[in-house]
Amino acid sequence: MTDAIRFLMCAPDHYDVDYVINPWMEGNIHKSSRDRAADQWHKLHHVIKDHAIVDLVAPEKGWPDMVFTANAGLVLGTNVVLSRFLHPERQGEEPYFKAWFEANGYTVYELPSDLPFEGAGDALFDREGRWLWAGYGFRTELDSHPMIAKWLDTEVLSLRLVDNRFYHLDTCFCPLKGGYLLYYPPAFDAYSNHLIERRVPAEKRIAIAEADAVNFACNAVNINEIVIMNNASAGLKQRLADVGFTVIETPLTEFLKAGGAAKCLTLRTTEPVLADVHARVTVQTRTIQMQGHLLDAGILNRALDLVVERGGSFKVLNFNLGVERQSTSIAEVRVSAPDRDVMEDIMTDLIELGAVDRPTEERDAVLEPVLLAGVGPDDFYVTTIYPTEVRINGQWVRVQGQRMDGAIAVLDTPTGPVARCKLLRDLTTDEKVVVGAQGLRTVRKVDERTKQTRAEEFSFMGSGVSSERRVELVVEQIAWELRHIRDQGGKVVVTAGPVVIHTGGSQHLARLIREGYVQALLGGNAIAVHDMEQAMMGTSLGVDMKQGVPVHGGHRHHLKIINTVRRHGSIAQFVEAGQLQRGVMYECVKHQVPFCLAGSIRDDGPLPDTEMDLLKAQSEYARLLEGADMILMLSTMLHSIGVGNMTPAGVKMVCVDINPAVVTKLSDRGSIESVGVVTDVGLFLSLLVKQLDQLTNPYATAV
Ligand SMILES: NC(=O)c1ccc[n+]([C@@H]2O[C@H](COP(=O)([O-])OP(=O)(O)OC[C@H]3O[C@@H](n4cnc5c(N)ncnc54)[C@H](O)[C@@H]3O)[C@@H](O)[C@H]2O)c1
Repeated sequence: MTDAIRFLMCAPDHYDVDYVINPWMEGNIHKSSRDRAADQWHKLHHVIKDHAIVDLVAPEKGWPDMVFTANAGLVLGTNVVLSRFLHPERQGEEPYFKAWFEANGYTVYELPSDLPFEGAGDALFDREGRWLWAGYGFRTELDSHPMIAKWLDTEVLSLRLVDNRFYHLDTCFCPLKGGYLLYYPPAFDAYSNHLIERRVPAEKRIAIAEADAVNFACNAVNINEIVIMNNASAGLKQRLADVGFTVIETPLTEFLKAGGAAKCLTLRTTEPVLADVHARVTVQTRTIQMQGHLLDAGILNRALDLVVERGGSFKVLNFNLGVERQSTSIAEVRVSAPDRDVMEDIMTDLIELGAVDRPTEERDAVLEPVLLAGVGPDDFYVTTIYPTEVRINGQWVRVQGQRMDGAIAVLDTPTGPVARCKLLRDLTTDEKVVVGAQGLRTVRKVDERTKQTRAEEFSFMGSGVSSERRVELVVEQIAWELRHIRDQGGKVVVTAGPVVIHTGGSQHLARLIREGYVQALLGGNAIAVHDMEQAMMGTSLGVDMKQGVPVHGGHRHHLKIINTVRRHGSIAQFVEAGQLQRGVMYECVKHQVPFCLAGSIRDDGPLPDTEMDLLKAQSEYARLLEGADMILMLSTMLHSIGVGNMTPAGVKMVCVDINPAVVTKLSDRGSIESVGVVTDVGLFLSLLVKQLDQLTNPYATAV
């Protein structure tokens, strides 16, 4: 018998499943037998008494779960952090446990009443005393971990539970002597599994299968080389035996009905204390503010869900609800994350939703130098489509050239710091780059509800495939927008693939260019080749556009065209020579609408105008997109995705493709300005031209 080890237990005199606060209790209300429970508890008591000293706390009537003393608190030396139960059904146990600890000479620390922590059920010391593993996610709040670290002067490693069957850490995690660990990995999120793997070497990790996990094999009591549990498979027993442990099984089926077993029924009150272990906690906390139509636009829900999904936790500190229909609400939320990396992930997403630091907590962005041209610091902030500001020397500076997937480069100039969104390859060594997510905010000019109304006006897809009538309505709206932009002297950029030509859309797109609706054209080799093939030979990819049938030898047509244009030196020179007299490319040249043809691996030829240096093509695309009010993306996944990544929020994007998945991908940028039309692009263009005619002369019969 090892008399240095002590446990606290509570006899099951009043034990029953009286309520449901975990999935195991469902269907088990009043289904447990008190006699059998008493018998099983006494057997466990007996087994433990053979190896340690057991103290008892008196059971109290009306508190059936007091039997689970693991949840009384967490003890280290003569200090105890008392539990703050999440569920009212167990909160009444707190004073009885407190009284017992005080009567036995412990110093009792109490968390604020609204900060749940469920004792040793959610906090397990490494058996060598090197640190404390602490769970959160179901019962215990992450914010309790820093306080526990401080009071018990120990390092706390936070683990997030994700399977509600394993609602307490001790239901799926059991540190064993010698640095071994018995655990069920699927009960934890990826971050936590990674942390476990970093701290516990592979040869010491004993990961169990679901069958053992649901038998509460991890809810075990380890006393030196003995592991006491409800039940273990032969395989698990063997694995434990291989590393020197002996399993003692003692049936606890009556307690499983309430979601507990051996470990839950005991509280170890003698934990190893290492002199050189001190308080250390990686938990990070920030307070953010969100303003807008937080409830009706669903922003607050999204933000809070996101915090939890990413592995953090939150507390809404203040919420001022806008009382009038038009007034906005303000929320202050404290966000906690188990470490800096998780916090950065969460903050990056929250910033995208418009969250800002509470004004009293605003801090400058962290800048790091570019040490190698074209390479950012490891932790660089990846930009989004949303207009962004960065705080430098206490001032908010607007980031220029906003686009997705860039870095924020800051350059000191005589007139002050200039922040610019740059691609990694363009970073230079005289610049500094924003790292992490501190000192950043996105600017939401339009309030969310106004945006929603506009979204309705300008959104056509809603349900996957648009019906014909729906497409017509959508086209009506686009025609109206196009006319409006043209009348205002705005800018429309078209990105188009060869399908536009194959589907008979060439004449319509040519007309849009001729009539001043298009200010730049972006595409690849193919749109230009097939457009000119059609203009010169009446075929597109060898198919006669009038008859709809393949022409003998037609597959060679486009190569002949490429060859001819190459002889002329460029498409413009081909037009100037009077050879090309109609079509999309002809109209671009004639009406000085700039175009950029970006090369690809598929290209034949290519045409002399096709830019095969992709970096140059990307820069040229970006230049032509500058100042765009609307982008029409016509049946080219490749070029449209490229364009989408370069475009800041606020630019209307219309994506037309026959494939709903492509449309969804292109229009799903989290920005309401992007919308999709699932239809044949030739049909779309013909309807669009018809609608524009109607706008010009509403009484004319459409062509
Ligand atoms: N001969 C050549 O040089 C040649 C030929 C073809 C493509 N290319 C090049 O290959 C690259 C990729 O070509 P891409 O952009 O055509 O391919 P892509 O796959 O990126 O996009 C084509 C899109 O058109 C959609 N589509 C098909 N039929 C449609 C219809 N009737 N109506 C509406 N949408 C329809 C598809 O769903 C697809 O999303 C481009 O750079 C192009 O220039 C070169």
